[in-house]
Amino acid sequence: MNVLVTGSSGLVGSAVMELLHREGHHVVGFDQRKSPITDHLTVETGDLCDFPRLASIIQKYNIGAIVHSGGISHPHAGEASPYETVRTNILGTTTIFEAARLFHINKVVYLSSGAVYGNHSAGVTTVETKVHPENTYAVSKLTGEYLGEVYNRNYGMNVISLRLAFVYGPNRFMPDPIKSLLERAVNGLDIDDAKGADQQLEFIYVKDAALGVYKALQAEKCSSSIFNIGTGVNTKMNEVAAVIKNLYPNISIKIGPGDLGYDFIGAFDCSEAEKQLGFKANYRLEDGIAEYAKYLEENKKSKS
Ligand SMILES: NC(=O)c1ccc[n+]([C@@H]2O[C@H](COP(=O)([O-])OP(=O)(O)OC[C@H]3O[C@@H](n4cnc5c(N)ncnc54)[C@H](O)[C@@H]3O)[C@@H](O)[C@H]2O)c1
Repeated sequence: MNVLVTGSSGLVGSAVMELLHREGHHVVGFDQRKSPITDHLTVETGDLCDFPRLASIIQKYNIGAIVHSGGISHPHAGEASPYETVRTNILGTTTIFEAARLFHINKVVYLSSGAVYGNHSAGVTTVETKVHPENTYAVSKLTGEYLGEVYNRNYGMNVISLRLAFVYGPNRFMPDPIKSLLERAVNGLDIDDAKGADQQLEFIYVKDAALGVYKALQAEKCSSSIFNIGTGVNTKMNEVAAVIKNLYPNISIKIGPGDLGYDFIGAFDCSEAEKQLGFKANYRLEDGIAEYAKYLEENKKSKS
């Protein structure tokens, strides 16, 4: 199948491109910028809101399915530029759904976010947990889900929305507390951060996030169209620091109390993704961080 992957130069999009390519699909990336990571694959540049450009690419490559991973992808970035977030994430997503509808592309996997849940005290977060988006980014992601439901209901499409947990791993450009600690550790630098130890997040390794997307793309008929994709484990930053300290025992890591401004969301219940999509995360946090550290080490060597 010929699959268009938007946001193909980004963290998740590039991993999805790689996985689909390895599995024998013909992938075409679409992003506003080129990236050396996807140099060996076909990538077209353009803006998500540019319908004529998207239409010509869909026709040129006879696209049969779309993974929509492009957009503004961080709650803090969303707050810095709310207008641009709404334009890119809501108008851009509508442009993708509309292009899919008009070119009879039934299957679209839309990357939503756990941010739609906002802060809540529930122990476990299921897709039934009341959504409570608390910033522009979260509102934009939830709007994309609602639009997906409308396209499913009114136009018979098969849009699947995935509420991703916090994704970490090679090629992450957006702010990320794991990346922030690990990059310093890999370079042998001591860490003394004023705050952040109490921030808890559900981290998912980028290869597992890509696997979730792949499984959703492959799924034939599901009884739901919205899924949590995570590990079901919440981790505090002081526990992340302990994992990194274990890998780099010679550096000192101190992190003061407090959070980093991310929502506190109860651990994801991913049982429906397991039952309906056959998705289960493979990487424990220790394994993902070790693989990410290895990548950063190798990258450091190749740069020097
Ligand atoms: N990374 C996470 O922790 C996380 C968590 C939950 C959900 N998500 C969602 O997953 C998706 C992918 O996230 P990511 O971490 O790979 O993001 P990313 O920032 O690494 O990649 C997004 C890509 O979209 C491209 N893009 C942005 N605006 C564009 C536009 N107007 N036209 C064309 N391309 C544009 C960027 O150039 C970038 O390469 C996003 O939709 C994000 O909301 C990410």
